[in-house]
Amino acid sequence: MIRPIRKAVFPVGGLGTRFLPATKAMPKEMLPVVDKPLIQYAVEEARAAGIEEFIFVTGRGKQAIEDHFDRSYELEDVLRERDKRDLLDLINSWMPAAGQVSYTRQMEPLGLGHAVRCAKALVGDEPFAVLLADDLILAKEACLAQMVEAYNNVGGNIIAAMDVPPEHTKRYGVIKPGKNSDRMVEVTGLVEKPAPAEAPSNTAVIGRYILQPSVFHHLDNTQRGAGGEMQLTDALAKMIGEGPFHGLRFDGERYDCGDKIGFLHANIAFALARPDMNKDLSVILRDISKTL
Ligand code: UTP
Repeated sequence: MIRPIRKAVFPVGGLGTRFLPATKAMPKEMLPVVDKPLIQYAVEEARAAGIEEFIFVTGRGKQAIEDHFDRSYELEDVLRERDKRDLLDLINSWMPAAGQVSYTRQMEPLGLGHAVRCAKALVGDEPFAVLLADDLILAKEACLAQMVEAYNNVGGNIIAAMDVPPEHTKRYGVIKPGKNSDRMVEVTGLVEKPAPAEAPSNTAVIGRYILQPSVFHHLDNTQRGAGGEMQLTDALAKMIGEGPFHGLRFDGERYDCGDKIGFLHANIAFALARPDMNKDLSVILRDISKTL
């Protein structure tokens, strides 16, 4: 039986050191792409995929995320007084309902695997999704919705996959492929950040996962790996053979917003995709390109 995906985990406990000083007192996940924080894109994507419960694994200095997913009565009063109905709709339309959001603290940023493990009690014994807000995806159909669709056909574990230039394998977890079609690739092995010569393919893992709850058992038995952190990839590797395990080459463009250049790229791409900004920004970009 394929059980539905109702819950999503958002690990937001990382330190975001690549974005210092911006992230000294502000969570990386609150950095805006155009006019929306990264974490809101992730929550909207999860909602578009039918998620009903939103679980945040936070850490020190991340209160702004909790405030963002709460009502702001003062602001709402002012907008109402000024008759700014459109802005009122804008801040309330995407908000999860009361009781749909829960938070737990990672306490120490010991890695992505550790962050996911912290959600164990809140997830319980059911399959769930994990979304990393700093992997931002521009797509016609939400990436997680594409994954849920695939999951409803094959079940098991599904991870978002993307073919990358062979020289970039060192930046990603990389899939050892079994049966391979246009969109779906069977996962027969996973290697974290291999050098091009050691990489089993050039199909990389992106920060969207649909996982069976047995991942918690493996995380409980996972030691700290590369960089002294508990790697999610190490636990995923242990799940191979337990049941179906696939990578989905999703339709869409992914931007690494944990990295400064990827973040700038995302801002330009998302602004260009907006009818209200496309024209003005195109003029600016054309002018800049003449000076290069
Ligand atoms: P990153 O690998 O980008 O790490 O995390 P980071 O600490 O946020 O950033 P840098 O490398 O220091 O700049 C990917 C995702 O996993 C979460 C992060 O919040 C981010 O959403 N994460 C990472 C945790 O929740 N806890 C951790 O211990 C590490």
